[in-house]
Amino acid sequence: KRVILAYSGGLDTSVMVRWLTEKGYEVITYTADVGQGEELSHIPEKARQAGAVEAIVEDLKEEFAREYCLPTLRALALYEGRYPLSASLSRPLISKKLVYYAQKFKADFVAHGSTGKGNDQVRFELSVWALDPNVQVLAPVREWEFKSREEEVEYALKHSIPVKVTKEKPYSIDKNLWGVSIECGPIEDILREPPEDAFEWTTSPEKAPDEPEYVEIGFEEGLPTSINGKRYEFLSQLISELNTLAGRHGVGRIDMVENRLVGIKSREVYEAPGATLLYLAYRELLSLTTDRFTYHYFLSHVPHEYAKIVYEGLWFSPLREALDAFTSTLSKLVSGSVRIKLYKGSAVVVGRSSPNSLYVEELATYSEKDAFDHKAGAAFTKVFGLPLKVLGRVRR
Ligand code: ARG
Ligand code: SIN
Repeated sequence: KRVILAYSGGLDTSVMVRWLTEKGYEVITYTADVGQGEELSHIPEKARQAGAVEAIVEDLKEEFAREYCLPTLRALALYEGRYPLSASLSRPLISKKLVYYAQKFKADFVAHGSTGKGNDQVRFELSVWALDPNVQVLAPVREWEFKSREEEVEYALKHSIPVKVTKEKPYSIDKNLWGVSIECGPIEDILREPPEDAFEWTTSPEKAPDEPEYVEIGFEEGLPTSINGKRYEFLSQLISELNTLAGRHGVGRIDMVENRLVGIKSREVYEAPGATLLYLAYRELLSLTTDRFTYHYFLSHVPHEYAKIVYEGLWFSPLREALDAFTSTLSKLVSGSVRIKLYKGSAVVVGRSSPNSLYVEELATYSEKDAFDHKAGAAFTKVFGLPLKVLGRVRR
């Protein structure tokens, strides 16, 4: 029995290697660099010490940025209007790779370290089944005997699995290019402000620079390509540069109580400095370059639906692909640049320009250059207002 295990190198998944081995599985670990900003060179050795027969480590940063973050940006998808879906997006990509290696190494099983009360289990399992329904998924955390971190440490020590002796933060943290997700510990008290040590990538607004900073993001046909005039060949690098820039000003913190798929509400704290800027900039250019009918249709039908699809683990569905086709048509218009002002936790669009801009100053102005046909306004208002006028008459 062979299994490909999604391996982070942390305590849970290290203990899991050994636990699966004891259950009779031959374990191959799989670790992806999705821009979590952690050194992964020690991972293979760690996996082998825990009992893995093989350890795969792959750099997926650019694939993650282009094929997962970018379509989600083009949909302006935010779960419940706020969460840019960072953790939710990495699961289908990792699942795709687990399936690929399961086929390559003729493994009948893949395994993940998610719990039975989270969203991630759903995303892993639905993604795997959509890609290869013959692969079976194991989720040891849902069934193993350990009830606490201490019990896992004890097990690790007994089996000479190296554990970090450094004091761990009391949080559960998931990181990638698109953002940081922080759960557990003091955050579970929803009345309490998240302690400063919960944050990884953002300076607190209080400690952010006293001077504002302007950043100009350039787009070509829906693809972010430059920051302050400097071109980036790799989208993943552009995103990580924006994370640094915005993070320094305390931009991109999100504190919310969200609806999980399994029915509970959960307090989640996120940091998404780069994604926050990209959403602001993309929305600005999309609204400037699409006509009112199209823009309103998009807003009514795409962001919320797309966010639910991603959050609920339906990445590999025709619905997501069809919405991508829609948003990529619109994204062809999204060229130009947006200037954003960063200051003590806030990010505000202060300027925009596009070769496809539908803003016509002669039509908008109130100065003598005004070219708008004011007389037409009377007839328009009369006809547009007719239903309410009739209603008014009937009600009186
Ligand atoms: N609540 C977020 C989501 O469902 C974050 C999940 C974070 N995952 C984790 N394993 N810590 O997308
Ligand atoms: C987990 O419970 O495994 C992490 C949180 C989540 O998936 O929502």
